[in-house]
Amino acid sequence: MGEHVDPRVDPWLIDESEFYEIESHADQMAFLIRYAVLAPSGHNAQPWSFRITHDGVEVFADYSRRVAIADPADRELMLSVGTAITNFRVAAAHFGYEATVLYQDRPEESLPVALIALRETCATPAALRRLFPAITARRTNRGEFETREIEPDAISELNEFMAAHSSFAHFLVPADRERAAELVEKADRILLKSRGFRSELADWVRPKSTDACDGICADGLGIPDPLASATPWFLRSFDVSALQAKRDRGLIELSAALLVITSEDDRVSLIRAGETLELLLLLLTRLHLNYSFINTPIEVETLRAQLWATLRSPHPPQLLLRIGYARSVPRPQPRRDSERTLVAP
Ligand SMILES: Cc1cc2nc3c(=O)[nH]c(=O)nc-3n(C[C@H](O)[C@H](O)[C@H](O)COP(=O)(O)O)c2cc1C
Repeated sequence: MGEHVDPRVDPWLIDESEFYEIESHADQMAFLIRYAVLAPSGHNAQPWSFRITHDGVEVFADYSRRVAIADPADRELMLSVGTAITNFRVAAAHFGYEATVLYQDRPEESLPVALIALRETCATPAALRRLFPAITARRTNRGEFETREIEPDAISELNEFMAAHSSFAHFLVPADRERAAELVEKADRILLKSRGFRSELADWVRPKSTDACDGICADGLGIPDPLASATPWFLRSFDVSALQAKRDRGLIELSAALLVITSEDDRVSLIRAGETLELLLLLLTRLHLNYSFINTPIEVETLRAQLWATLRSPHPPQLLLRIGYARSVPRPQPRRDSERTLVAP
């Protein structure tokens, strides 16, 4: 019998010194992919796979891991693929590789969506290297945040980041916060009233201790242990829309700031926006800030248009996040073993 692997623990424990003992290029790439799979993804579906090539990896969108009701146009799926690309690049930079990402224009689902070519160098970008420890420390935190304002040093790093990535990431100005909160409340009421939406979400909820390698464990959703096993049944059976709308409004009121990720809806723009998202989440983690997603207004087309109208961006919104200081999330969410994401050469 093989050793028992805990998908909430083992994928997150990587001994980086092992990298220096690896001799083959293919094994080095497989090692970097262990960091890629720790990236965040909608519903923790992890919709990605990788094929190792002679100079890097090909990245595939795994359409079998679609979340069809919440994400019918695969926008969050592509954003998620982008987050994995960033983790790969950050890990590559840490171990002395410069990465070039090339995007696939052809739409066939069997083709990779991106190619990452690596070149060994002794001068990888410090901005990427500094994010490396955040790959294993990052967690989505759906709990309450403190009312504390963001420290001035953190604000200036974030402002610098926003300026450098201005087509993809923005702070919501305080005057627009109330409007965004109203749209979240409206969207929660629409989406969580829908039995289909709730039932799909329920399919991805897991108990605290699980052998499942994907989905979201109930403790990560803020559901206490005795109720955790009943959560999928509860979600399927009851209209939780009013409850969620009230909870989200409270969480927004407690957050220090709201952020929006914007991009056009084509595949390449979405992947690049996902790459920027993960750079931002790793930066927030490095700055000891927490974040969670409050995307519901973007998942209802009419409300998405209303949110867009309040933004000063030529590109439509893709994700809405709140940030702030909070107690850290004790346990990470599960991951598939990275070897299961490898496509044979
Ligand atoms: C594109 C994208 C969309 C997401 N949307 C939501 C969301 O609407 N609500 C939410 O609570 N979490 C959302 N998440 C967070 C994921 O659920 C989370 O990344 C996943 O469960 C893994 O947990 P971790 O981020 O702590 O590793 C999203 C993540 C990504 C990358």
